Amino acid sequence: MSTTPDPQTPDTAQLLEIALEAARRAGALLRDGRPADLGVAATKSSPIDVVTEMDIAAEKLITSYIGRLRPDDGFLGEEGASSDGTSGVRWVIDPLDGTVNYLYGLPSWSVSIAAEFHGTALVGVVEAPMRGETYQAVLGGGALVNGVPAHCRTAVEFSQALVSTGFGYLSERRAAQAEVVRTLVPKFRDIRRAGSAAIDLADVGCGRLDAYYERGLNPWDLAAGALFAREAGALTGGRPGAPASGELVVAAPPGLFEPLQELLDGLGAWHD
Ligand code: IPD
Ligand code: CA
Repeated sequence: MSTTPDPQTPDTAQLLEIALEAARRAGALLRDGRPADLGVAATKSSPIDVVTEMDIAAEKLITSYIGRLRPDDGFLGEEGASSDGTSGVRWVIDPLDGTVNYLYGLPSWSVSIAAEFHGTALVGVVEAPMRGETYQAVLGGGALVNGVPAHCRTAVEFSQALVSTGFGYLSERRAAQAEVVRTLVPKFRDIRRAGSAAIDLADVGCGRLDAYYERGLNPWDLAAGALFAREAGALTGGRPGAPASGELVVAAPPGLFEPLQELLDGLGAWHD
């Protein structure tokens, strides 16, 4: 049998190096370049779904940097980057996840960059400059936080579980999400709402949360963080049997993941 690698298969070490450097540069721009009088540049799905000039500048930096090194790759970015490319590699980018935190000067925001090959995430980097932390993962290659292997927690009962979630920007959706949370609060150790889905997923992988769930994420919110959580030993998914998607994202260690997924499914956490 031939062991010649498929010439189309990308070099994951190179993709990782590029993702790390792009995330580092964008993180530094956001941390050091935040204007004291930062305001809202535009709104998207609702008046509270905001974009700042810095979201746009960070996405431009990332796509220019990657595009120079890998001109044949495609892009999907929260601030509009969208191209197919010809290499089979697509970069899925949230230049600033946690924009509302960033706008208010709260530290929980991140840069999220994943490289997918024909739709499968091969590499994921989440950069959290105000924590001084970089979360990186390669498919089948494990997860590292600042170069140190990351591992999710072992499963606990609901009553011992610290669970994070988030809310969408549309008020009907938020009302439905609040109903689900109302049922969950008495069951769990506690609930968190940190404001950056990429950091929530990284925190599951680092063992700083037992679990995370949310409805309504976009691919750029979850691509890098979900790979990190999986490579750190967690399971990710949507409704039972379905992959994580905009409908529902659940991330938790095996043993907690399954009952949590069932519970969320039964509570209708996947619809408005
Ligand atoms: C949001 C954050 C937030 C989550 C929202 C996302 P953005 O991303 O990840 O934690 O609850 O669903 O849209 O708008 O700050 O990039
Ligand atoms: Ca986001």
